[in-house]
This record gives sequence, structure tokens and C-alpha cells, in this order.
Amino acid sequence: MMTKILKINPLSPEPSKIKEAAEVIKRGGTVAFPTETVYGLGADALNPEAILKVFKAKGRPSDNPLIVHIATFSGLELIAKRPAKSALVLIKEFWPGPLTIILKKKKIVPDIVTGGLNTVAVRMPDNKIALSLIKKAGVPLVAPSANLSGKPSPTRAKDVAADLSGKIDVIIDGGKTRIGIESTVIDMTTSPPTLLRPGGLPVEEIEKVVGHVQRQSMSHETTPVRSPGLKYRHYAPKARMVIVEGDSDAVQSEIKKLAEKGLKDGKKVGILAFHKEFRVEGCITKYAGSRPGTVAGRLFNILRAFDKDGVDLIISEPYGGNGLKLGIADRLRRAAGQG
Ligand code: TXA
Ligand code: MG
Repeated sequence: MMTKILKINPLSPEPSKIKEAAEVIKRGGTVAFPTETVYGLGADALNPEAILKVFKAKGRPSDNPLIVHIATFSGLELIAKRPAKSALVLIKEFWPGPLTIILKKKKIVPDIVTGGLNTVAVRMPDNKIALSLIKKAGVPLVAPSANLSGKPSPTRAKDVAADLSGKIDVIIDGGKTRIGIESTVIDMTTSPPTLLRPGGLPVEEIEKVVGHVQRQSMSHETTPVRSPGLKYRHYAPKARMVIVEGDSDAVQSEIKKLAEKGLKDGKKVGILAFHKEFRVEGCITKYAGSRPGTVAGRLFNILRAFDKDGVDLIISEPYGGNGLKLGIADRLRRAAGQG
């Protein structure tokens, strides 16, 4: 299959190009497009055959449900039962934006979207290309991140092409995504609401609006898996990755020790740094920034760059905290296989 690249202006999407991409969706094809978080692989959310193509292109396990992307509130009405008041307040406050809400689904949503669950994940992305594509297609779109299953999510069209070229119909190139990590996923069918995936919208912002949100334990040995996607290794570079925890000085000397051992064993070693001046001789050091907005924007890109460099072992400084840092720490842990 030939994959067509459509370059579209993110500030003012050209109607003729949006129309061309929307036609592909209507015919049951697959179109990768930018959102404010990461690139998604879009298909008609009401067309099971089109959705099957998404699973196939990504190599995604079929029990991992998809997020349905809408552009209007009538799109929401079409697929979800009437949300509780607290969910409506969230929607009003944060849509369009990096927030995915789990709601009770309507029958019209095919089982292949939800993995047979009676709920559906919905979000309204804050990106002009995404919104105009959904509107023009006239249907809601499923859109998992447009990467091969398990790989870091794409933040640029060329990351999408590296994973999916030849496997999908169209890639819209709309520049770099603004946030860089995926949306926050919150289950509003539970009381209190449950945070299933920290992401682009800090959970603290959500709590200001709906009160306490319970955190789902990240350990799946002790708790049933609520969001099936959480049980898979994710965001992972080819290299083995370790995160060295602890306070800054101890961490840096431990990293140096591990790096020297890796180098002695003949490995190509990458260092993921959150301190600008931190370097280890003989290793490929990549600085992700220190402010969370910067780190989120660079993280997946850096993981992909380590792969391109042929790095065998990535050693990372620790990163975490509240707000956007929570989502970043989650992606780092999963990249290191500590899901
Ligand atoms: O930022 C994003 O959310 C991006 C952009 C493209 O919109 N999309 C994205 O989709 O990250 P994906 O498929 O990579 O992640 C969807 C997550 C998975 O962890 C999945 O298990 C969870 O949402 N999910 C989907 N439907 C669900 C449901 N009904 N109940 C619980 N979790 C659900
Ligand atoms: Mg994904």
C-alpha cells in the first residue's frame, strides 16, 4: 500500500486537503493526523472493517480498546449515554483538550472499539486539523497513537512514517504536537472518579473541578486491570532502559558506574539526562530539559533517537512529581518495562 503524505497548515488547515483526507475516512480507510498530544491513527469509529485496519497496522492486541474522538457535542450524544453531572462539568471545563473520559456507551459503538466493554473512552482534541477532519468526515474517529504497538508515541509526522509507512492510507503532516504525551484518561463511571492514565492534563486540575479522584494502583499483580491498555509494555525503545532512583549526587555517580560497566561489556550506552550539565564520557547523552512542558515535548522523540543511534542500554536520571510530571514519570517507567 502506498501511503500518501498530506502536508496541512496547522493554524489554518486547507479545506481541499481536509476534504481529501475525510474522503479516505468515509471510504473506510486510515488517516494519521496530529492532535495536541501525539499523532493518532484515525478511522471511522462506526465502521468495524476500518477499525480492524487500525489494529492490524499497529499490531495492537484486540482487547485494548480505542479512544473515540469527537468534534461536537452531538458526536458525544451519538456514542455515549448521558454523562453524570460531574462528567458534564469536566467536559465543559476541559474540552477541547488533553482529557479522555470513560462513559457508558451506546449500542451504536461497535464492540471492536471497546474490546467488548460497556463503556467508551471519548475525547475532543484541541487541534484544528483534528477537529476539521472529524467534522468533514461526519463521523467520530477512533484514534490510538499512530505508532507500532509498544513503541513510543509519535510527536511528528516523520515518526508516524517510520512506524506505519506502507501500512496506512494517509499521513497528515501538521507539524510537531504541542504537548508530547498522551491525554489523561479518567473513568467517570465510578464514584469517586478513577484516574486510569496520567497525561497531558494534570489530575490536580481535574480535582479542582470534581473533587477527589482515586488513583489506580499501577501494580497489576494486585489489582484487576481496569484499562486494558495498561497491562502491555509501552512507549518502549529497543534498548533496555533503567531508571536510577535516589537523590541527585548519588544518582549521578551510580549512573556513571552502570555506564562504565555497560561500556566495558561492549555496549552502546545512552544517558537520559534532566540536568543540563550532566554528561558521562563515552556515552550518548540526551538532555530532555528540566521543566515538565519541555520534557513532555521531547521525551518520545529522544527515545526514538536512541533507537536510531543503535543504543543498547539507556540509563536515565529519575523524573517525577505532581502535575504534568506525573504523566512523564509514568511514560518513563513504562519505557523501562516497569509498567
Ligand atoms: O492523547 C491521546 O489520548 C492519543 C491521541 C491520538 O488522542 N490517543 C491515545 O490512544 O493515546 P491509545 O489507544 O494509544 O490509548 C488509549 C488508552 C489505552 O490505555 C486504553 O486501554 C484506554 O485508553 N481505554 C480506551 N477505552 C477504554 C475503556 N472503555 N475503558 C478503559 N480504558 C480505555
Ligand atoms: Mg498508544
